[in-house]
Amino acid sequence: MILKDSPSLRSGDALSRPIGVFDSGLGGLTVFKALARRMPEESLIYFGDTAHVPYGSKSKEAVAKYSTAIARFLVSRGVKAIVVACNTSSALALREIEEAVDVPVIGVIEGGVRAAAGAAATKRIGVIGTEATVLSGAYQASLKRVLPDASVFAQACPLFVPLVEEGWWDHTVTTEVAREYLKPLLAKKIDSLILGCTHYPLLKKTLQKVAGKKVSLIDSAEQTAIETDRRLTELGLRRRGGKPSRTYFVSDAPRRFLRLSKRFLGTPVARVSLHAFDA
Ligand code: DGL
Repeated sequence: MILKDSPSLRSGDALSRPIGVFDSGLGGLTVFKALARRMPEESLIYFGDTAHVPYGSKSKEAVAKYSTAIARFLVSRGVKAIVVACNTSSALALREIEEAVDVPVIGVIEGGVRAAAGAAATKRIGVIGTEATVLSGAYQASLKRVLPDASVFAQACPLFVPLVEEGWWDHTVTTEVAREYLKPLLAKKIDSLILGCTHYPLLKKTLQKVAGKKVSLIDSAEQTAIETDRRLTELGLRRRGGKPSRTYFVSDAPRRFLRLSKRFLGTPVARVSLHAFDA
């Protein structure tokens, strides 16, 4: 990213511009929440692609097409940086997104990997995510770069997303599903588990119960907020005062977003705008 060539960031008001955050749906609100907590003075725009969710079972081409369309939309709304809260987009389409826009783009994978590198005592690391994320090998490759001698075991957990959306965070059904998914990873004696999907932080209690106290659960939301703060500060784009705004867009079913967002955010969203798009 060559910022001096970035028309979007040339103007003097770049500092007060919002940060764009997007996800395939509602799950990215876990990252939005971490960003708001770490940088309360920054304005944030959230985009949930509720018309095309789930990304986790789609092709790289489809995920890249939707993700770049959203990134361009966010730039048209004047954002100074984009946080790709969706693990599937970060795993499959980060480069395409970076090429599509002229503002800094921050994905969630590096943050999760950095946190795991700090936590993994025996360097036996489990990764759970959507089918597309796991098949992309993005976490596995990034972990190998940071910790070349780590043993990495990945497992797709496609049933977790609908269970979280249903609000069944510590339901017995979810515990049973978690037991099945984690069985092969626990058999490998993992010492840490990367929650490689926006929805999984909400299952922490259940996952910790199933994995046992000795396994550290790694949530990339916090690390992504730290990385975003660092990047903006380094680029001279970090806002330190003023009144921040919070704006929400979805590509479909805004009422459902309003109903479910509190589960992810902890506080209700008063207003969401519909922005349907054809990529
Ligand atoms: N947001 C997706 C992720 O973090 C999960 C939901 C989906 O499959 O779209 O991978």
